[in-house]
Amino acid sequence: MPPFFITMSNILEHFFDIYPSPFPFDVKDRISKGYREPFDIADEYNLIFPDKGSKKNSVENVLIFGCGHTEALFHALRNPTINFVGVDISKKAINSANKFINENNLNNIEIENVSLIDFNSNVNFDIIYANNVFQYLEDPIEGFHKSYSLLNESGAVVCSLPSSYYFSEIDIIRKGLINLGYSYLDEDNINEAFNIVSGLGGIHPARIRMVDGDKFIDKKDFVSRFLVPIFSCFSISDIFSLINNSNFYFQSWYSNSLYYPSALLRKESTKHSSLYNRINQLPDNQKWDFVCEIFKSSNDRYSHTFTLRKDKDHEFISNTLLKNNNSFVCLRNNLAIKKIPESQETFVISSNYKRKLTDNETLLVNQFEKPIKLKDIYKLKIDSEDIDNVIISLLESSIINIYS
Ligand SMILES: C[S@@+](CC[C@H](N)C(=O)[O-])C[C@H]1O[C@@H](n2cnc3c(N)ncnc32)[C@H](O)[C@@H]1O
Repeated sequence: MPPFFITMSNILEHFFDIYPSPFPFDVKDRISKGYREPFDIADEYNLIFPDKGSKKNSVENVLIFGCGHTEALFHALRNPTINFVGVDISKKAINSANKFINENNLNNIEIENVSLIDFNSNVNFDIIYANNVFQYLEDPIEGFHKSYSLLNESGAVVCSLPSSYYFSEIDIIRKGLINLGYSYLDEDNINEAFNIVSGLGGIHPARIRMVDGDKFIDKKDFVSRFLVPIFSCFSISDIFSLINNSNFYFQSWYSNSLYYPSALLRKESTKHSSLYNRINQLPDNQKWDFVCEIFKSSNDRYSHTFTLRKDKDHEFISNTLLKNNNSFVCLRNNLAIKKIPESQETFVISSNYKRKLTDNETLLVNQFEKPIKLKDIYKLKIDSEDIDNVIISLLESSIINIYS
């Protein structure tokens, strides 16, 4: 049972003790099978620090807020020379992570059972991961302020927040159920709440969010979504108002392909020949908001993952790097480029994304086996205006990355 003097932090601690998220898994086994967290330091250093070139040893201390059972272990195993601190309110998560640390003699990680709001440290951190945790704070801006106070001047925050384009329908029902007294503590309440949402009409947006393939999600997933006591979800403008109120600067999305029309719409479509240009004329925030609104029904768009920096020079850094001919361009990790022999068409495929490349895109992508300087791309026999457009479109589709 939750403690007698109940605070929201106590309630959440109890909730995550019973409903850990993600459910614990064998981290070592998953890593060996290729599992990677977004903004993995070893694979994606240039995405976190596009300004630091190959100075990987500049990362000494990393903090992980809401590390759950496995997230801090993942990073500590992947980066044995970096020191990690993990923080989580769930005792069970911390006990289970500690057991793993002891059994595996990991000496580059410490974890603490405390709310991130109450966490303090003598050292400041080079990277702070805050993945899917600030949504459980009564006031999410507090998480941003806390991160700001603990981050090195040249450090980066990697933040992931649930998307309102996906979760808003769930959240309306969640608030309603909780206001009616349905509780995750009572089995009968859970069953009844499950029956209420699964009994909604087939195309009801909240019911759609309960279906995985051809069956309903299991009861644990249902409770994590529909009966969690505190939760917020965020639109693009919510995210930018949090950023503006916290003194941070937005550096980049993890997956541009969720936000840019060039990644998701066919420019040359005859059915809506002007839509692409119309959206592209909007200011960035409105453009991203509209693209997310249009594509929100797709099931893999749960969250917004991005990096924040303290220095204004890093704001939208890709735009700055595109103006510097000495910037490097490379292919994003974990992509497959596939040429179909019968049609001669080339596709780029990642875990949640598949896109056909144009002829010029294919030509350029083939040059990126190793990182290449921007100025060397202009030596290719393509019209340079086309090159600019192709580079921008590949960047907006998260097929390439740019760094100094
Ligand atoms: C949805 S899980 C995310 C786990 C992990 N960050 C990931 O992305 O896989 C949220 C985690 O944050 C923890 N949490 C919630 N509120 C917290 C707080 N105020 N301080 C520290 N941890 C918190 C929960 O116990 C839970 O382990």
